[in-house]
Amino acid sequence: MSLVITNIGELVTNDPAAGDGADPLGVRRDVAVVVEDDRIAWIGAAAEAPLADADEVVDAEGRAVLPGFVDSHSHLVFAGDRSRDFEARMAGESYAAGGIRTTVAATRAASDEQLAAGVRRHVTEMRRQGTTTCEIKSGYGLTVEDEARALRIAGGFTDETTFLGAHVVPPEYAEDPAAYVELVTGPMLEAAAPHARWIDVFCERGAFDEDQARAILAAGAAAGLAGRLHANQLGEGPGVLLAAELGLTAVDHCTYLTDDDVDALREAGTVATLLPGVEFSTRQPYPSGRRLLDAGVTVAIASDCNPGSCYTSSMPFCIALAVREMGMTPAEAVHAATAGGAAALGRSDVGALRPGSRADIVLLDAPSHVHLAYRPGVPLISAVWIGGRIDNVVAPKEKE
Ligand code: NIG
Ligand code: FE
Repeated sequence: MSLVITNIGELVTNDPAAGDGADPLGVRRDVAVVVEDDRIAWIGAAAEAPLADADEVVDAEGRAVLPGFVDSHSHLVFAGDRSRDFEARMAGESYAAGGIRTTVAATRAASDEQLAAGVRRHVTEMRRQGTTTCEIKSGYGLTVEDEARALRIAGGFTDETTFLGAHVVPPEYAEDPAAYVELVTGPMLEAAAPHARWIDVFCERGAFDEDQARAILAAGAAAGLAGRLHANQLGEGPGVLLAAELGLTAVDHCTYLTDDDVDALREAGTVATLLPGVEFSTRQPYPSGRRLLDAGVTVAIASDCNPGSCYTSSMPFCIALAVREMGMTPAEAVHAATAGGAAALGRSDVGALRPGSRADIVLLDAPSHVHLAYRPGVPLISAVWIGGRIDNVVAPKEKE
């Protein structure tokens, strides 16, 4: 099965060798892309596109094409609603990690079918907005059975599943957090590991401290799970340095960073995943993407879609925030939402469009990637292909 997308006005490849070298997006103009089965087979001048051999030809009409967004951080297995908390924050209350327990109670009470329907609804939302790879965490079950089922359900939608039993200490262990860490590192990990690729810890005051995070990540590594961390979200803390020391692939939030944190991230090659929707939804100060990029740190942008700290599934919205509030150029923000997300998941098959990449492709209803930030809140995603197959939630634009 072969597909040719031709008359692409601007192609974002994320292949620095393909562009003028100065821009991280490796932009090419007036090109065509050939897809064979689930992979990119060829990229070249539109005038040379092998149209006669194609099973299907799509005319991009001069619009922009980019790699699908890679959303490396979400919490989609949940039930319930915390819009009241959001309303209170907008009236001056501050975000508290304890709100997670409200969602834990609702999630435990929900059926498997209800949870799966919620994940499906949110993954569909994501695809409509150009996300073609997403990571999904557990973390609202916090019992052996509820964490395992959250990961089983998440695994129906993505390979990038993350065990977050160490989200907060649930109420029934409030008097004995050490016993909860034993549960997480013992029976809960054993039940979760077959369904997870990653293990994550919320390393923050009010959640888990550095020693607990170390113990949980070490147990996860012994069970074959790669580590990642929620860190430095509510204040400066030890999480980012711990992530760098352990050489983790990524550390997420990074809202409050010292110069030592930034240096350590660069030295370790750990990706800093910024979650601008969280700062938007909690009214916290935005971290500077500029500072990280200037220091030579790899930056990813992700949604952190969850019912508490940030209930958006929209990567275009996060890109617009990163440009407006984090000192990133549109090109840097788009790069962070595609290649950056892929780096944060240790993936080389997604986040770029070059021969051999997975054919996860977004056609914009706009002439350039800049419009993602220039036209915030506007539905610019015209078509999405995942593994070379058109995603039916987004129909290609009708020809006039
Ligand atoms: O990534 N920081 C911890 N966990 C989530 C929030 C979860 C919630 O508030 O329900 C986050 O922001
Ligand atoms: Fe999160």
